[in-house]
Amino acid sequence: MRIDKFICKSTELTRSEAKKLLKMGDVRVNAEVIKNPATQVHENNSVTVNGEELTARNSRYIMMHKPLDTICSNVDEVYPSLLHYIEVDKAFDLHIAGRLDADTTGLVLVTDDGRWSHNIISPKKDCQKVYRVNLRNQINDDKAAELIERFKSGLQLQGEDQLTLPAKLEIITENLVLLTITEGKYHQVKRMFAAVGNKVIGLHRQKIGKINLDVELGEWRYLTEEEVNSF
Ligand code: URA
Repeated sequence: MRIDKFICKSTELTRSEAKKLLKMGDVRVNAEVIKNPATQVHENNSVTVNGEELTARNSRYIMMHKPLDTICSNVDEVYPSLLHYIEVDKAFDLHIAGRLDADTTGLVLVTDDGRWSHNIISPKKDCQKVYRVNLRNQINDDKAAELIERFKSGLQLQGEDQLTLPAKLEIITENLVLLTITEGKYHQVKRMFAAVGNKVIGLHRQKIGKINLDVELGEWRYLTEEEVNSF
């Protein structure tokens, strides 16, 4: 990890404050003064600021129930960032492992551990995400089996070279389905249903891997060790 990031992670300081300390020669790694903020440090290095040894804060792993009209980026745009709802120190150092659209609700996993979130986001890791989808057009009984097969075989989305990976479609009622996918292309679920001539009118993510959403809308909690280790 970069030394400036390490200082931020283990103190209350911002990245620019950490850089200032480095510039002033206040930071030592294994007793040597380090000024370059891009210097890499490892767990077993001794890092001191003005003689005081730092210990890196553990990474944070959180589940949040995303409300409508919030966004999953760290920057507020038309809607506020979801991170405003998470009342922890330096919430804006966290990132969201698998974004949802502003008009989608449900489970988001939030962390500052990039390696962990890669296990969730990368299609190669085969992490299943389950969505509850409300559809505008009814799925009639006589078309259901064919539709399930189309989702399983892969769909051609507009502007994509490759078919979608096999997806599991479970029909709950004529207008309500559960969809399980292992990738997260831009607007993927909406585009998958557009590809079969339907339209998503409500979208909610209820599960990622083994983790089920179990907090109320707008609420969050830390994940258990077992949940963190499940990826
Ligand atoms: N697919 C979408 O289309 N939107 C989301 O928010 C998530 C998956």
